[in-house]
Amino acid sequence: MRHKDGKIELLRTVPLFANLDDSELTEIGRRADEVAVGEGQTLVTQDTAGTSFYVLVEGAADVIKDGQKLAELGSGDFLGEMALLEDLPRSATVVTTAPSRILEMHRRDFSALLDAAPHLARKMLATLAHRLRYADEQLVT
Ligand code: CMP
Repeated sequence: MRHKDGKIELLRTVPLFANLDDSELTEIGRRADEVAVGEGQTLVTQDTAGTSFYVLVEGAADVIKDGQKLAELGSGDFLGEMALLEDLPRSATVVTTAPSRILEMHRRDFSALLDAAPHLARKMLATLAHRLRYADEQLVT
């Protein structure tokens, strides 16, 4: 785990966490593990149980559902929220397409974070609405 101040600086670069104050960022840093992963790593697997929420702090990943690429995620994007919010299996598989730095947060910490920071929950809702709005415009590659 990196030095505490470095971790806060890293969290500050994530749009989802913009506008959070230092104490909120410190709290997130306490609850999240930073992990470096290579290209081609599966972060979550469709139809399996979800136990964590992830922020792709730096890197890139593809979202794949039933073998079809649904979306590309990039630095600052989050993933893995759907299974936790719905308490259902993962809706898609997410695989890194570049070496990446990930923050991983266990479901109970994710849940506590949303309870403690409603403005963050609201931002997450906006992103979910965006994903829903463009859900039928699947990427064809
Ligand atoms: P979850 O269902 O937990 O695991 C797969 C993740 O892929 C999902 O949460 C979202 O974070 C992400 N995801 C699913 N569908 C889309 C989409 N259409 N656009 C972007 N991300 C998606």
